[in-house]
Amino acid sequence: MRVVSYQKIGGNGVKNWKFLLAVLILPALLVLPVQAAEVVVSENYVIGFYPTKPVALPAPNATYVGSDACKTCHSKIYEDFKTSGHPYKIMTPSEARALRPNLPLPEGYAWDDITYVIGSWGWKARFMGKDGYIITKVGANRDKNGSNQYNLETGKWSDYSPGAKKVYDCTGCHNTGSKYGNKTQGNLPGIKGTWEFNGVECEACHGPGSEHVAKGGGKGVAINRDDSALLCGNCHRRGTDDTKIPASGGFIQHHEQYLEFLASPHKNLKCVACHDPHKGTFKGATNPKGAENGIKAGCETCHSGVKADFTGSKMQKVGVKCVDCHMPEATKSAVGDIKKFDGDVRTHLFKINKDAKATLTYKDEKGAEYASGYITLDFACLKCHGDKDKAWAAQYAAGVHKLGVVVETPKPTTPAPTTPAPTPAPKGICGPSAILAMAVLPVAIYGVVRRRK
Ligand code: HEC
Ligand code: HEC
Ligand code: HEC
Ligand code: HEC
Ligand code: HEC
Ligand code: HEC
Ligand code: HEC
Ligand code: HEC
Repeated sequence: MRVVSYQKIGGNGVKNWKFLLAVLILPALLVLPVQAAEVVVSENYVIGFYPTKPVALPAPNATYVGSDACKTCHSKIYEDFKTSGHPYKIMTPSEARALRPNLPLPEGYAWDDITYVIGSWGWKARFMGKDGYIITKVGANRDKNGSNQYNLETGKWSDYSPGAKKVYDCTGCHNTGSKYGNKTQGNLPGIKGTWEFNGVECEACHGPGSEHVAKGGGKGVAINRDDSALLCGNCHRRGTDDTKIPASGGFIQHHEQYLEFLASPHKNLKCVACHDPHKGTFKGATNPKGAENGIKAGCETCHSGVKADFTGSKMQKVGVKCVDCHMPEATKSAVGDIKKFDGDVRTHLFKINKDAKATLTYKDEKGAEYASGYITLDFACLKCHGDKDKAWAAQYAAGVHKLGVVVETPKPTTPAPTTPAPTPAPKGICGPSAILAMAVLPVAIYGVVRRRK
């Protein structure tokens, strides 16, 4: 299967489609009998309430032992894993303060009032009170609704289910060894279900590892090795419908990478074709390197033809990257409204619709909002070219990779542009002058990618 990952694709698409088809279908057939033999961790697990599937038992009677038990033999993977967001999903107050010493609390709360911090690794933090409920009322008298979600990018508070009685029923995607039975973690009324470990640990993906450890480890020894997109899709999704991508306020909603991926031209790949599953890609608390850390195959690995086209173009020279147009932050986790067409999670739709009339999201007859299944020119272009519109972008979209590529003998460089210089660089980092832009943009764009704390 790995072969597919590094299959070179020319500018005109896949030439070896028969080969691709064969490698894609064959493993699918092989997987079938394995799935039939899966054992369910808990009958109490309510599939459908949350779509997360229980992880298969790698051996009868296997139990969860925690990532520290894997560290001795898999130290490199363990260290990599610690750079990703997975292990930090929910944290005790002391863990959260070790990771983010300056993390503020909702107004009127002290650390003694908190059982867990939810998030705060990458985008935002929510807080669980002593009763397990997610805090939705703040102030000394707990009479102010909202201002309960802290957003890392802006350093501001926003409202999350303001005033509601908000149960932590999120364990299936956030913790390891979750069960939605009758018991609740710590017997707290504000929590639904129980879990074994707070983070998304090794065993959330590999299944409980006690027998693997007891037998001294080894390939195929009492441990799951599931490299399917669905493994990731158990948590990186929303709802139970694989064909719809829920949206809100003009943005795609977060934790829907699997649904976007299914709608994308990459649906026949796996997440691990591009991702190292043990490393993070987002610039979060333990990953200052961002995508450089966890992307093992970048766009150019497979699309060498487009890379060749793009090389030497005006935008390539000023540091615009494939992902700036093809994976824009069209998705919102914490904040989507700092700037137009600029959320805070990158989309996995990849394909750009060059029709100026196309919209990123639409509403169905019932008023529910969904993503259309492609990136539109506003999100692809206008976050940088803020003074232009989609009709402007549409004129250039078709030949955009080669824009400004000097084909024959280069003319003497005359800086006077025929079109007015676009307002470059997101977040107002660049000045208006095109020449200045060209000088600082590589740095600026680099900065934008790494802008988060
Ligand atoms: C279907 C799985 C799923 C469910 C259910 C779910 N989450 Fe998440 N959540 C994720 C994933 C995956 C991410 C990270 C990826 C993303 O945001 O696109 C995330 C991110 C977050 C973050 C940001 C983390 C950070 O480091 O900044 C917070 C906070 C959060 N979720 C809170 C909640 C709360 C509260 C609930 C329950 C009321 C919940 N989530 C339910 C999957 C889920
Ligand atoms: C988010 C899910 C996830 C988490 C968390 C995770 N893994 Fe993995 N792991 C995978 C996947 C998927 C593969 C298969 C990768 C592939 O085939 O490209 C894998 C492969 C492996 C392998 C085989 C590596 C090889 O190159 O042969 C080992 C060993 C392993 N994981 C150990 C661990 C340990 C130890 C931890 C915790 C420190 C851990 N994993 C955490 C998903 C995960
Ligand atoms: C006593 C040493 C030891 C411990 C402890 C250990 N492993 Fe392993 N594990 C191995 C060896 C040896 C292999 C085979 C070589 C390899 O893939 O690295 C292996 C292989 C694996 C594989 C790949 C399996 C396959 O079929 O390709 C995974 C996944 C894995 N371990 C996960 C874990 C997890 C999760 C833990 C902790 C719960 C853990 N291991 C603890 C020694 C250990
Ligand atoms: C058990 C649920 C679960 C599974 C399975 C899972 N994830 Fe995640 N993932 C999460 C949650 C929750 C977060 C948010 C973590 C945080 O913010 O602390 C997350 C965050 C991420 C991030 C962003 C944070 C970072 O480290 O850069 C990436 C990338 C990611 N997951 C990739 C994957 C891939 C690839 C797979 C499959 C190999 C996978 N995940 C499987 C729940 C899961
Ligand atoms: C592991 C290999 C691989 C990597 C890495 C990869 N792609 Fe692809 N890409 C494919 C395959 C396979 C297809 C589907 C065949 C096709 O239509 O060309 C595809 C198709 C596409 C398409 C649609 C092509 C069309 O003709 O409509 C776009 C756009 C695209 N990829 C962009 C990207 C971008 C941007 C990146 C980097 C974030 C990337 N790809 C990384 C393999 C890859
Ligand atoms: C300035 C924005 C922008 C950048 C940067 C960009 N693309 Fe594109 N790309 C587009 C647009 C717009 C289209 C749609 C063109 C069409 O449909 O004719 C497209 C189409 C594609 C396609 C499908 C059609 C084809 O030409 O094969 C692929 C694959 C692709 N891009 C990959 C990449 C890769 C790889 C990179 C980086 C080397 C990249 N793009 C950089 C905007 C961009
Ligand atoms: C074609 C390659 C490719 C595939 C397939 C792919 N990803 Fe990614 N993903 C990327 C790249 C590249 C980035 C980082 C972009 C950057 O920041 O430069 C990324 C980033 C992410 C992030 C962090 C989002 C952010 O805002 O930085 C998450 C979460 C994630 N991927 C999950 C997944 C999951 C889950 C799957 C499978 C359903 C998947 N990815 C499949 C290329 C891919
Ligand atoms: C990450 C920011 C960014 C994105 C995204 C982006 N651009 Fe650009 N673009 C620039 C910068 C910077 C320049 C160079 C400014 C200059 O040379 O005057 C530029 C230059 C251009 C030019 C002038 C090129 C020339 O030859 O004179 C056009 C036309 C253009 N972009 C179209 C687009 C289109 C269409 C899209 C979306 C498909 C897009 N850009 C996406 C930043 C961006």
